[in-house]
Amino acid sequence: MSQHTAPSRPSRHYTPIDQLLLGVDTGLRTLFGQPAITERPNPSRAVAEGKLSDSERQLAGRLMRINHAGEVAAQGLYQGQALTAKLPQVRQQMERAAQEENDHLDWCERRAKILGTHVSHLNPAWYVGSLAIGALAGLTGDKWSLGFVAETEKQVVRHLDEHLAQLPEHDTKSRAILEQMKTDEGRHATVAIEAGGTELPYPVKKLMGLMSTVMTRTAFWV
Ligand SMILES: [Fe+2]
Ligand SMILES: [Fe+2]
Repeated sequence: MSQHTAPSRPSRHYTPIDQLLLGVDTGLRTLFGQPAITERPNPSRAVAEGKLSDSERQLAGRLMRINHAGEVAAQGLYQGQALTAKLPQVRQQMERAAQEENDHLDWCERRAKILGTHVSHLNPAWYVGSLAIGALAGLTGDKWSLGFVAETEKQVVRHLDEHLAQLPEHDTKSRAILEQMKTDEGRHATVAIEAGGTELPYPVKKLMGLMSTVMTRTAFWV
């Protein structure tokens, strides 16, 4: 896969058709191609490969497949929201956050493949479902929409903590990736809260948690 970094896009007016085509392009890159990553190095390059048994390697591969599916869903949420939310003051930060999600997507995919496994066959379903949820969240207005981003990111941080605890101890490379992702997701949550994101009602948070449980359990196997 060739690395390619997102060009800085000059601000210009896009017609609805332009936006639709850009959206389709982003979706296809997320699912089947090379998404536009940032300038940051892959954190796993900074550490040596640990020694893993076959069963450890299989477990780590499955965990990284789940994380990859989660990042596909994150892309769907961000892209869906971008279609409907205004967010004029924070658009730049949101675009940067979406690009950092592309880094996560890229790092997880490479790692899952090195560990000898495939990415989730259900990724198109996670993407389309999340795109719809993101678009709905965007329609509810900026404070709820940003609250939704903040809650998603907080749930991802808790999930990454669980995965860091489950990863084989010597899988230093996967660990380095998840640690950097955790730092990034925490920052994304803070940006959304500082931009005016409001706390979501408990049933909504609960529903989001249930959906991510379905996704993580399924992606472990397929
Ligand atoms: Fe992420
Ligand atoms: Fe994030």
